[in-house]
Order: sequence, then C-alpha cells, then structure tokens
Amino acid sequence: MNPKIKAAIVGVEGYTPDFILSNSDLEKMVDTSNEWIVTRTGIQERRILKEPGVGCSYMGIHAAARLLEKTCIDPQSIDMVLVATVTPDYVHYPGTSNIISKAIGAVNAFAMDLQAGCSSFLFSMQTAAMYIESGQYKRVLLVGVDKMSSLVDYTDRETCILFGDGAGVVLLEANAEGNGIQDAYMRSDGEGVDYLHVPAGGSMLPASVETVTGKKHFMFQNGVPVYKFAVNKMVEAGAIILERNGLTVADIDWVVSHQANKRIIQATAERLQIPEEKLMFTIHKYGNTSNASMPLSLFEYESQLKKGDKILFVSFGGGFAWGGLYMKWAY
Ligand code: UT7
Repeated sequence: MNPKIKAAIVGVEGYTPDFILSNSDLEKMVDTSNEWIVTRTGIQERRILKEPGVGCSYMGIHAAARLLEKTCIDPQSIDMVLVATVTPDYVHYPGTSNIISKAIGAVNAFAMDLQAGCSSFLFSMQTAAMYIESGQYKRVLLVGVDKMSSLVDYTDRETCILFGDGAGVVLLEANAEGNGIQDAYMRSDGEGVDYLHVPAGGSMLPASVETVTGKKHFMFQNGVPVYKFAVNKMVEAGAIILERNGLTVADIDWVVSHQANKRIIQATAERLQIPEEKLMFTIHKYGNTSNASMPLSLFEYESQLKKGDKILFVSFGGGFAWGGLYMKWAY
C-alpha cells in the first residue's frame, strides 16, 4: 500500500430508461394514491426498462459508453470492470460485468460483479479503492445498475410504488493529490434475510412451476423494520466516519445517501444534524434504483461539485448490508 495514493472518481455518467411510470399510473394498477406515495416516500415517478429481452447490462453499457466518450478514455486502458447489482442479466453466470466489458471493448480488464444488496455500490467503491491503493491497478470502471422492475410484483402495492430502473457509472483512478476515497466503514448482518429477500430462483429454491405460480420470484419486503434498521444503521455509519476522520458536520459539503425513501434520508440527516441543503435527492424522479441510486445522484449533482468537496456516503440494503464512506471530490 502506498499511503499517498488514493482512488478518486474522475468521471460520472448515468442512464435511465425513457419510460416513466408515474404515481397516477400506479393509482390505476393498485389500491394506492399519489398523496400516499409522495408523503410516505417522496417518490413522484420512476423509470422502467421496457425494451424486450434486455437485462440490466443494457443500461450499464449505455452509461459506460457515455462515460468513455465524455472522458475520452480508451477502453483498453481499463484494468478492472466492477459491477454492483442485485439484478444481474443471468442469476448465476456469467457476471454482468463480463457482458458490459465486452460491449465497451475493455479487453484488458478483469471483470467481476459484487452483490451486497443496495450497498453493493458503496462496497464496490471501497473494493476498487483497495485495488488502486495497492498499486496493482490504476483505472477501474465501476457500474451501479439495477433493473428492479424485473423483481417487482406490480399487484403488490407495498413494493411496486418504490422501485425503478437505472444505471450510474464512475471511473476511478489513482490520485496522488490526496483527493478520492479517504475511509470506509462497512457492515453486514444476516438478521436481514427475513425482512428483505427474493424467495426463489437461487440454489435454495430453484425455479419450478410452484415457485412461479406462488409468485416466489418477486421481492418480499417487510417495510417497517427495514425502515427502522436503515435509519439506525446509516446514522451509526455516518457518525463513525465523521468521528474517526476528525470531521464535524460543518466540514461536510455533500451527503450522498442511498435513495430508498425520502423520509429515511431526512430522518438519518436529522439525527446526524446535517442540514437539508447538503443532501442529494434523486428519489422523487427515479424511485429506489438500488445500486444505481448513488452514482445517479453524483451524476445529477456533478455540475455543483467542486474539487476538494468533502462528501459523506451512507447506504443500507438487503442482507442487511450497510456502510459509510468519506471522499474528497477530485475535479
Ligand atoms: O433499498 C432497500 C431498503 N428498503 C427500504 O429502505 C424501505 C424501507 N421501508 C419504507 O420505506 C417504508 O416502510 C414503506 C414506504 C415501505 C412503507 O411506509 P410506512 O410509512 O412504513 O407505511 P406502513 O408500512 O406502516 O403502512 C401504513 C399503511 C398500512 O395500512 P394500515 O395497516 O395502517 O391500514 C399499509 O397497508 O399504509 C398502507 N399501505 C399503502 N397505502 C396506500 C402500504 N402501501 C401502500 C400504498 N398505498 N402503496
């Protein structure tokens, strides 16, 4: 490890499908209302990938291609392609990272997927940082992507209003100026299995006629305990990151939170005493896009970020898996 080398984001891009599923559309599908959805979650609309026969890689490839064009990076110079997703193109193999690497021409990279619920993107940033700080690799393409519509039962009002599809991508490079990822705190607790999971399709309950007719390939969520756990654990992660880096809330310029529910983001910020103007919000227009939510937030706020800005990331997701990360913006 070279303590002088940090892993810094040098570019960010996003891709969201054109199709908009609004709250008024959902009012016609299930027993819900725009008023309930907005007050309980802050979501006004979400994007859905409607193109037939494509998986999440479709969005990841679009986002990655845009990023390569924007940054003028030769795909052959990428050392590693990391994909954070819970909705891979293929449940078992190959990894979605293989599919994206091939499509963008990253022929000299090794590729792998990382799955830690909605915290896969945060865990992946720290994973990329370890490879870069070790000196082994210089350039990592990290894609956060999810096609949550592939897991949602659109007759279940408790989950179908929450999720959307999208992709965000960042390019991480070695930085010798001290900018980039400074610290990360990551934790997991298998206690979460009962509260948030997709029952079938894995090795425990492979697909069968019964799993399909029993709707076992859709996500199950017990929202209230997940809500409480999410706030408590993101507060814990944020507080630990601030404390062990000698930071006060006043030092932080931006907070990038996983976008699961506007009330969760606000409750977490309130307990950490972070003012609302430092919070990035994309949930109103994209819903919960799982692992796309953090890079999409960075993409949406990119023009407001300045070199040296101190950014606190907090995330929470299925598993449970949660964490915090502290970054100094590099451009
Ligand atoms: O990214 C992965 C991590 N996931 C999360 O972080 C999600 C965490 N959970 C949540 O965001 C919230 O718990 C939800 C948005 C899922 C639910 O909001 P809530 O304020 O916790 O509502 P609730 O579950 O306590 O439900 C309140 C009422 C219930 O009716 P009763 O029992 O009071 O008569 C629900 O049946 O609202 C009802 N309800 C709905 N009503 C209209 C539940 N879903 C809906 C709906 N429309 N879509």
